[in-house]
Amino acid sequence: MSYTPIARLPQHVGDTVTVAGWLTNLRSSGKIAFLQLRDGSGFVQGVVAKNDVAEEVFERARHLTQECSVLVTGSVRADERAPSGVELAVTGVEVVGESTDYPITPKEHGVDFLFEHRHLYLRHRAPWAILRVRDEVERGVHEFFGERGFVRFDSPVFTPSAAEGTTNLFEIDLFEEDKAYLAQTGQLYAEAGAMALGKVYTFGPTFRAEKSKTRRHLLEFWMLEPEVAYLDHEGNMALQEEMVAYLVGRVLERRAAELESLGRDPKKLEPTAEGGFPRISYDEAIEYLNARGEALTFGDDFGAPHETMLGERYDRPVFVEKWPTEAKAFYMEPVPGDPTRVLASDMIAPEGYGELIGGSQRIHDLKLLEERIDQHGLPREAFEWYLDLRRYGTVPHSGYGMGLERFLAWVTGVQHIRQVIPFPRMLTRMYP
Ligand code: 4AD
Ligand code: MG
Repeated sequence: MSYTPIARLPQHVGDTVTVAGWLTNLRSSGKIAFLQLRDGSGFVQGVVAKNDVAEEVFERARHLTQECSVLVTGSVRADERAPSGVELAVTGVEVVGESTDYPITPKEHGVDFLFEHRHLYLRHRAPWAILRVRDEVERGVHEFFGERGFVRFDSPVFTPSAAEGTTNLFEIDLFEEDKAYLAQTGQLYAEAGAMALGKVYTFGPTFRAEKSKTRRHLLEFWMLEPEVAYLDHEGNMALQEEMVAYLVGRVLERRAAELESLGRDPKKLEPTAEGGFPRISYDEAIEYLNARGEALTFGDDFGAPHETMLGERYDRPVFVEKWPTEAKAFYMEPVPGDPTRVLASDMIAPEGYGELIGGSQRIHDLKLLEERIDQHGLPREAFEWYLDLRRYGTVPHSGYGMGLERFLAWVTGVQHIRQVIPFPRMLTRMYP
């Protein structure tokens, strides 16, 4: 069996090929049938002219149904009007698998209906384009870090303790009476990795029991978490900026057609690919929000509307840095000479997509870290291993976490984060 991917058809003009795919749509009259075909690599139109093919081929073509699987043979011809620049002059059609009453018809369907049929909806153009951007970003992550001497480091999903607050932890019953929790982050393990391998990154699913239904939250999402020994807060922000500029540039370069089919204006992303992200302090951010009529005071975290206001000021992501100690996680290094603030930054996206990245320099002093664990009411026993990293050759180190879906929602310009993961897990959705 030798089939030609639709994506390669432009290199086969004049050849007779067989495409192995599915039928997405059919229009026909008495003399001609137009088959809209897809094979995963792309989309192409097949044209079946009654006068040019055997009677039974035309009849078979005319009766194809939406999403039946087909082998379509024909000669490739250039066609200026086609998005791919080619179409197929069909000479043979063979049905592989029937499809009767395919539920997602060309008419408009509600969002709930489409997510109820997510296993099928993935076949359609928008999810197809989004998942190809997702793949490109994942590939870009590995290349970016691989080229810079980072080692990929896989952190566990079952963990003995909380790391990012106790209110959104998923608790798992283990055998006997033991409990474990689904990882909210791979960071603490990545810190052990950084002490062993210097520069590491984790990239895997993380879990947050978020009771709120927002367009920015999933119960299960993929987080990328680099962690670097001997890196300070400034270097940490520089790495984030370089990475985000690289990934956006890569998508603009390699997935332009997908962005276009999603209606995403590349102009909105181009400034980001240049780098030069503005940096403002938390205090400046509060001042700005106060001036816009928001009643926030020192110590408050930002809500979604605040992040939106801050992000909309710029044409590329902005860093908000030096956060109040009380607003952030237990492991963050204080600003030198100011214990009320920590060396943490949030990277906030433009256009209302909110926080893309949270990062910080980590506490490397044993005594201070012990104090913080106690202050946060965390069980010391579960953190002995983490404290060991400060007992044996501690060094300043930093890292960050980027939510892959937050990043993708922004890059693809979709409404809701659930659109950029194959099977979103949310309070209101576990099926399929
Ligand atoms: O800011 P967060 O909570 O930071 C951490 O977990 C650190 N341990 C990261 C680190 O320093 N290694 O989460 C990091 C990012 C957020 O900026 C956001 O992009 C994403 O994870 N995120 C979510 N994405 C989707 N759904 C959720 N419920 C998310 N919660 C966080
Ligand atoms: Mg955060």
